[in-house]
Amino acid sequence: MLGRVNHIAIAVPDLAAATASYRDTLGATVSAAQALPEHGVTVVFVELPNTKIELLEPLGEGSPIAAFLDKNPAGGMHHICYEVADIQAARDHLLASGARVLGSGEPKIGAHGKPVLFLHPKDFFGTLVELEQV
Ligand code: CO
Repeated sequence: MLGRVNHIAIAVPDLAAATASYRDTLGATVSAAQALPEHGVTVVFVELPNTKIELLEPLGEGSPIAAFLDKNPAGGMHHICYEVADIQAARDHLLASGARVLGSGEPKIGAHGKPVLFLHPKDFFGTLVELEQV
């Protein structure tokens, strides 16, 4: 079911500082910041030869990463995103297997304009998993 790692996401308290650190200290190419109000985050993408890193900062009230940053004030790895060919088939398979899909269970359009779903971290060894249809 799983394809490539699409991205690894890191929650950060200060997106401008994190962008500068990846760009200037690590020498990476970092995209312009993109506000995603529907997801409660502002994001930049660090472009790497084999994958992307997303740096996420909370946006607005009730951001889904606010509680994570309360527990990890310096920031931390937030989720890993795997590619799937058919997100509805993946969702149906996961639900039939007893895994928990977060939210309504219906895919939302993610930061790359493609349908995404999130899976409960307690079902996957303490790691929040995102699936993205590519
Ligand atoms: Co993501």
